[in-house]
Amino acid sequence: MKMFVLAFLILSLSALVKAQLSTTFYLSTCPNVSKIVRREVLKAFQNETRIAASLLRLHFHDCFVNGCDGSILLDGSSGEKFAFPNINSVRGFEVVDAIKNALESVCSGVVSCADILAIAARHSVEFSGGPLWRVFLGRRDGTVANQTGANNNLPSPFETLDQIIAKFDVQGLNVTDVVSLSGAHTIGFAQCSTFSPRLYNFSGSGAPDPTIASDLLPVLQNLCPQGGNASVLSPLDPNTTSNFDNQYYNNLRNGKGILGSDQVLFSAASAATTTKPIVETYSTSTTAFFKNFAVSMIKMGNISPLTGSAGQIRANCRVVN
Ligand code: HEM
Ligand SMILES: *[C@@H]1O[C@H](CO)[C@@H](O)[C@H](O)[C@H]1NC(C)=O
Ligand SMILES: *[C@@H]1O[C@H](CO)[C@@H](O)[C@H](O)[C@H]1NC(C)=O
Ligand SMILES: *[C@@H]1O[C@H](CO)[C@@H](O)[C@H](O)[C@H]1NC(C)=O
Ligand SMILES: *[C@@H]1O[C@H](CO)[C@@H](O)[C@H](O)[C@H]1NC(C)=O
Ligand SMILES: *[C@@H]1O[C@H](CO)[C@@H](O)[C@H](O)[C@H]1NC(C)=O
Ligand SMILES: *[C@@H]1O[C@H](CO)[C@@H](O)[C@H](O)[C@H]1NC(C)=O
Ligand SMILES: *[C@@H]1O[C@H](CO)[C@@H](O)[C@H](O)[C@H]1NC(C)=O
Repeated sequence: MKMFVLAFLILSLSALVKAQLSTTFYLSTCPNVSKIVRREVLKAFQNETRIAASLLRLHFHDCFVNGCDGSILLDGSSGEKFAFPNINSVRGFEVVDAIKNALESVCSGVVSCADILAIAARHSVEFSGGPLWRVFLGRRDGTVANQTGANNNLPSPFETLDQIIAKFDVQGLNVTDVVSLSGAHTIGFAQCSTFSPRLYNFSGSGAPDPTIASDLLPVLQNLCPQGGNASVLSPLDPNTTSNFDNQYYNNLRNGKGILGSDQVLFSAASAATTTKPIVETYSTSTTAFFKNFAVSMIKMGNISPLTGSAGQIRANCRVVN
């Protein structure tokens, strides 16, 4: 099946990338780039499987703010790291530093931090058992972080389905992309703070979110008591926590999405004509999910890249040259 996905992508997807980025961008300047990133991600993954989820999420949070330009990696209190969706939440920066150092020692000043995030996301999914895709490359690094942009553009777990769809639409991603990319929540963890409003007095109703399965509710309430530690973690896919599979979509069909933004894909009234049929398709077909996830990752990776002589190749991903 993986071979099928790969062949499909090579044959028919180049058109999506509008000839800006290319799979062979570093062929003569840093031919081993993918191998080197893969080795560093594998090291980190063998130490802690969750790092795959964290690196995948970094690429997403980078691309939704001024395009895939490595802006999330910039240090500083006015940076994106301190935006509401990122603070005390995004992680993996030390691994990006290790990748950058490894690349600088082999092909100095050549590989952008934005491309590192794209390649690291791909290998993170690979090590977790998900689909493979050819990573389009040639992004350059931005010189500004945009904290307001991060606050405005990144979706919140408390938003409605329509709000989430609108935030993807702004980035050129459609309803299919919303559902396939949300499947990233088949790996990784979420803090109580991101879903506990569902567990008690949901939207001032005096009761929990009625879309939470009756056997999941006490589990989550026990993990996240009112007034308890908001940083405690729940797996986003409790059954197969670190496997990249289609279990996430079965969870949604069973009222077992952890975030409100997960469960609305199946349970919102407006989902019936938008996302729900796609959730159903992926829940019965790993092949369909994997194929569409790969397509959507390539689309997401092509959000407003800096190319040619725009931007720069950072020497240190945390600071502008
Ligand atoms: C659809 C809108 C989305 C919303 C509202 C959302 C929200 C969230 C939230 C609140 C968390 C938990 C963060 C924490 O507790 O610290 C999370 C984790 C995560 N998200 Fe999303 N997300 C969305 C889409 C995506 C997409 C498109 C991807 C990647 C393609 C992604 C990948 C991840 C991963 C892998 C994790 C786990 C990270 C870790 O364990 O370090 N998410 N997301
Ligand atoms: C790429 O890596 C291989 C070993 O994995 C090495 O033999 C080769 O010299 C490297 N090529 C370059 C250009 O660094
Ligand atoms: C290994 O993972 C832990 C988190 O589980 C992290 O704190 C530590 O820095 C990692 N070590 C290495 C060498 O990556
Ligand atoms: C920051 O992002 C916002 C989108 O929320 C955009 O309107 C604004 O132009 C961006 N600012 C910079 C400096 O790129
Ligand atoms: C979303 O876009 C892809 C192409 O990128 C297309 O194949 C798919 O049909 C679109 N889905 C919807 C619901 O428009
Ligand atoms: C639930 O929230 C609403 C609105 O914030 C509030 O008026 C009500 O007293 C709360 N109910 C309970 C049981 O806490
Ligand atoms: C809250 O939980 C987090 C994650 O388990 C832990 O690191 C932290 O020490 C806890 N804080 C308190 C005050 O117990
Ligand atoms: C995993 O799923 C099975 C059925 O699909 C269920 O019986 C079991 O309780 C689940 N395990 C966890 C840890 O959620």
